Formats: sequence, C-alpha cells, structure tokens
Amino acid sequence: MTDAYTQLVNNPVGGFVARNLGLPQPVELERWRRGAPLIDGRVLIGAAPGGRCGTAAAVVLAEAGAEVDSRLGDEIREALGDASIDAGIWNDEAPAAQHWQGLVFDATGIASSSDLRELWRFFHPTIRRLGPSGRLIVLGGEPAECSEPAAATAQRALEGFVRSAGKELRRGATAQLIRVADGHESRLGSSLRFFLSPRSAYVSGQVARVGAGVAVTEVDRDHPLRGRVALVTGASRGIGEAIAEVLARDGAHVVGLDVPALRADLEAVVARIGGSAVAADITDAGAPRAICEHLADEHGRVDVVVHNAGVTRDKTLGGMDEERWELPIAINLTAEERINDELLARDGLLGAGGRIVCVSSMSGIAGNAGQTNYATSKAGVIGMVESMAPVLAARDATINAVAPGFIETAMTAAMPIGPREAGRRMNSLSQGGLPVDVAETIAWLAAPDSTGLNGNVIRVCGQSLIGA
Ligand SMILES: NC(=O)c1ccc[n+]([C@@H]2O[C@H](COP(=O)([O-])OP(=O)(O)OC[C@H]3O[C@@H](n4cnc5c(N)ncnc54)[C@H](O)[C@@H]3O)[C@@H](O)[C@H]2O)c1
Repeated sequence: MTDAYTQLVNNPVGGFVARNLGLPQPVELERWRRGAPLIDGRVLIGAAPGGRCGTAAAVVLAEAGAEVDSRLGDEIREALGDASIDAGIWNDEAPAAQHWQGLVFDATGIASSSDLRELWRFFHPTIRRLGPSGRLIVLGGEPAECSEPAAATAQRALEGFVRSAGKELRRGATAQLIRVADGHESRLGSSLRFFLSPRSAYVSGQVARVGAGVAVTEVDRDHPLRGRVALVTGASRGIGEAIAEVLARDGAHVVGLDVPALRADLEAVVARIGGSAVAADITDAGAPRAICEHLADEHGRVDVVVHNAGVTRDKTLGGMDEERWELPIAINLTAEERINDELLARDGLLGAGGRIVCVSSMSGIAGNAGQTNYATSKAGVIGMVESMAPVLAARDATINAVAPGFIETAMTAAMPIGPREAGRRMNSLSQGGLPVDVAETIAWLAAPDSTGLNGNVIRVCGQSLIGA
C-alpha cells in the first residue's frame, strides 16, 4: 500500500515528469515477505584495521545464509566459512557490474580523526553500487568507553557520516550505525539482522546501542516469541493493530487492550490472531492493578509489554484549556508509568528476559506547533525509558522506545492536505511509513535475542528532516 503520489511517480510518465520538475521520487519500499531470505542479494563486509566486530558480523551473515563478499582478514573469512564466500573475495578490481544489497563496515578500530579515512576508502568505491532498498551499516564503539579523547572523538564522528550517507542514498536504501560496547560483540546479531532485512524498511539514520545482556539460548528465527505473552495497549486499530499482528506472527499470545467503547473492534483483531482481549481505560485508577491481575491469573506472567495507546489534543498553548493539557499526559505518560510500577511491584510478573517497548513520537524529539501537551508527554516517554533502563537491567529485562514519524493511519489521513504532504515527503525516503514498519521495529526490540538493547530510542521516520 503506497500513497497516490508514490504510485504516480512509479509509472513511466509520472516518473519522467517528476524527474524533470525536480520533485521527490519515492520508490515502493521492499518489505518483509514470509519465507524471504534475510537479505535478497550480496553483502560486502569490510573493516578498519583493529576492528573487533568483523568476526561477529561475519558469523551472523554466514548463519543467515547471506551471500557475502569480504574485504577482511583470514580470521574473519574463516568465520564466514568457505560456502558463503565462494563467489569470490572482493578487491579493488571488482567488476563495475558488481552490485550489493548490503554494505557492512566494522569501524570499531577507528581510533583517531585521520583513521576516519577508512570510511571513505570502503564506501567511496561501493556506495553507488548499492541496490534499491539496499542497506549501509556501520559498526562502531561507544565513545564513552574510549580511553583516549582522540578515539572517542572519532567514534562520535561516525554519526555524522551515517546520517549524511542516509540522506544521499536513493531508491529506498537506508543507513544505520550500530554501536557495540566492548566485550558485547556477540549481542550484535539481532540488530544486524533487523537493519539488513526489509523489516527495517522505514528506519534510517538511526544509532542503536548494544551493550550487556543476559545469555540467550537457541532462538526460533521464524517464531522468536513462541510461548511468550505480549500485552499491547491501543490494539483495536492503527499502529496497535499492526503491532498485535506482527507479535502474533512471531509466535506470541497477544493480550490486546483498548477502551471499552472499542471492545467489538478489539475482539475482532484478537480473534484473527488467536489472542485475547482486555477492555479497559488505562487512566482509570484501578486499571494497572486490574491489568496485572488479569495477566497473572490468565497467563501467570507477561513477557512483552507494548505501551502504544495514545492520543493527541492539538491546540496552541495560549488557546489550550486545562483538560486538553491533561488528557494526553494522563494517557500517553502517566498511565504507562503507573502500569510499569504495578508490573515491577509484582514479583516475577515481568521476569528475566522481559521487554517493555514504548511508543513515543517525533514530536517528542523535535517539538511541533500546536502539540505542547502531546510533545511533553512523548518526550516524557523517552525520559521514562532512559531512567528506567538501569532498573530493568537489574532484572535482566529491557525497556526501549520507538519514535514514529509520519505513519499512514486514519489519524494522518484526516490531516489537511498541506501538512499531510509536507509530513509525507520531508524525509530521506520521500514517503510516509506504514503501521507495519513501527510494528516490525517493536518486534525486533521485543525479541529474546535483543537482550543487549536497553534504553534505546529508535525513530521510525524514514530519516525525517525534522528533529535530531
Ligand atoms: N500515526 C502516526 O503518524 C503516529 C506518529 C507518531 C506517534 N504515534 C503514536 O502511535 C500510537 C498509536 O497511534 P495511532 O496512529 O495508531 O492512533 P489511533 O488513535 O488509531 O490508536 C490509538 C489507540 O489507543 C487507544 N486508546 C486511547 N486512549 C486510551 C485509553 N485511555 N485506554 C486504553 N486505550 C486507549 C485508542 O482507543 C486507539 O485504539 C500513539 O501512541 C501515537 O501517539 C502515531
């Protein structure tokens, strides 16, 4: 499903006109299909000297059965195994016809500003050979962990590189930076797989941080959430409905929650995905307790909690009455805090391996005229994620947030055409995202092997031009 403009410029006449008028030329993004490989095409992997993530990345690619070309040392080629590189080792004489679907560069060895030239050496001859919906991924370290200021400086510089490369890429290709804390290279897999795959279609220019986490035993890649219980608030429609569908696809039993007035819609959604329904207003004084009792009585626990329910009540501040101020904060922030407090107060209800994923918003990062109330609540969600991360880590659990940009839902369809078209086009992919794009990002953060991701805020905004 794409918008009418995207369809128009993807036919020959519309494309010709758009090209000649210098108008945006969004392409239909490749999205994940059941049974499709991790990445449909060849991946080139390289590293700056002294890198520590190349072997881990090579192992992930080899396990996923990706076709890999390498510009790496023997040790890493060995990790790839003979089968995966039999199509040849890439070198500077690679035929110009060679194209890649993924470019992965281990930049953890970069320790000074002059070392940054390694980025240019790897990407300059290859970036134009990245295919449609291709993936550019840089693996970096944590600046705060570097013992020398020069190394911290160079590692921080990687963000500018990735964000600019994302803005140069065309035809649905994306760029990301994965920062891997020293000693946690083995936790890289879930993030590398997500960013390489079409599941991250509408995510670009992001920095994901991978750190400590509990050991993960065997994960069923087709159904990573099999046997797990997931609570999704606001599940009767829009983004929440897509989250419920994707988590159920990944094997979870989904407990969908929505206001009593939408009970029929909610029941239709959960019936379709084999889940169950709870009708409640999350702002009711007794709601956190009732929700937790339901989860304890019916399932004995909850493994994944997705705080998705949210509302807007737009008005400029001078014209905003108290009720308009209060409601978004009560629903979008206070109710989430109260549910978390109740969950964590009950021993073992959200146990080791538990995942909380919150839906923030680009407004909470960039601000938006007419949304002081909403943006306050959504920035508060980011504050909650950052401040609760150590609390969840102490329980071997995690809390993260996604911040959607312009997503094609009933809410955005009802916007006036001017702001709607601006919202759709002002991002590196020149189009709005789909609810499934937010849902896939949440499924990645909720997966058992995403154990090293804690306290992250990942934008699902096609690299919106607005905000950080
Ligand atoms: N659509 C976008 O472009 C966009 C962008 C950024 C962030 N978001 C966020 O994504 C989330 C989902 O948005 P959507 O576009 O699907 O909106 P939506 O209005 O279609 O869905 C929100 C759901 O939350 C439920 N809900 C609201 N108040 C509730 C309450 N007190 N108790 C229980 N359920 C309640 C609603 O009934 C509804 O089903 C929200 O948090 C929203 O702020 C959306």
